[in-house]
Amino acid sequence: MNIRYELLEKTRRKSPPEKVTAFGVVRTNHMFAVDYNDGAWHDARIVPYAPLNIMPGAVCLHYGQTIFEGAKAFQHPDGNIHAWRFDLNAERMNASAKILMMPQIPEDLQMEGLMRLLDIERDWCPTEPESSMYIRPFMLGTEDCLGVKASKTFSYYIMLSPSSAYYAGGFNHAVTLLISTKYHRAVSGGTGAAKTGGNYAASLVPAEHAFQQGAGQVLYLDAGNKYLEEAGTMNHYHILEDGTIIIPPFSDSVLKSTTSMSILDLAKMGKCKARLDAIELEQFLKDIKSGKIIEAGGFGTAAVVSPVGKYILEDGSEYIVGDGGIGKYSRQIYELYSGMQVGAIPAPEGWLKKVERFEVKQ
Ligand code: COI
Repeated sequence: MNIRYELLEKTRRKSPPEKVTAFGVVRTNHMFAVDYNDGAWHDARIVPYAPLNIMPGAVCLHYGQTIFEGAKAFQHPDGNIHAWRFDLNAERMNASAKILMMPQIPEDLQMEGLMRLLDIERDWCPTEPESSMYIRPFMLGTEDCLGVKASKTFSYYIMLSPSSAYYAGGFNHAVTLLISTKYHRAVSGGTGAAKTGGNYAASLVPAEHAFQQGAGQVLYLDAGNKYLEEAGTMNHYHILEDGTIIIPPFSDSVLKSTTSMSILDLAKMGKCKARLDAIELEQFLKDIKSGKIIEAGGFGTAAVVSPVGKYILEDGSEYIVGDGGIGKYSRQIYELYSGMQVGAIPAPEGWLKKVERFEVKQ
């Protein structure tokens, strides 16, 4: 599909900040947009980042027919910008779309839109340690209709947010998780495997609850309170004494993190030891106490690798993992993974896509 440009005049464009100091706050000048109606995508364009023109009765605003993605691009030492495994995000966007009764959007259109946007905004890619160009694609059901049914019209956008690490303190700050038996993120048969706004809206009260107990986030269990599931903004992992990374299995109540998938791919290539395995809470806690589990943490696009130093249960009891700090295997996997992202360590073929310079016709 042809992508047209409707760029801000040069004199009206903001300049990138000298330094990024937060996650998800800064915006670049432009975004990618494309609309869907009559069964097809139309009018792909790069336009100024500005308020959306949406009717107050739009389905997305009332019934949450909305999905999104989180991806990253990095400036490499040679000055080029590279997007990290965006093909996985484009694929997961379409998996979420199926769950929310939204149309499939061709993966090559998602990729082309991103490449053109990153090209226009290449000067905005931050280079400080642990920073990235955070990429936020999203799709909205836009039909102006109050009947509870799927929208007939949709818009897909990609916006960019030059960001620092998700957690203040970055990798070197161990997170505390509350293991909640009171709140659940998702149940089997629900929307847990989709990246949809409702899952995140539902996490706000549990997150506040966790905060009140002294934790940074919730580690959710399955609805029977038996198995570990995920932490909402990241998948969970723990590490055994021999360095094996264990990730709870992907299911219809767990979002398949592209970071977890990459770690599992790296394990297949012999770069680390990792596998999916069901983890019972009771055993998990015993293994932390006995020292069989030596490290734990979360994997996510925003969170990258975020070590967990301590778990708190609803009754207030505390479980410290290892010495409560950053373990050597978490550090190894973080250094390998983030080193590949920034171009310091060679990444597997096809994991990085270089942003070309396009001819821009206004
Ligand atoms: C991501 O890791 O990109 C996420 O989507 C988490 C986000 C909700 C901050």
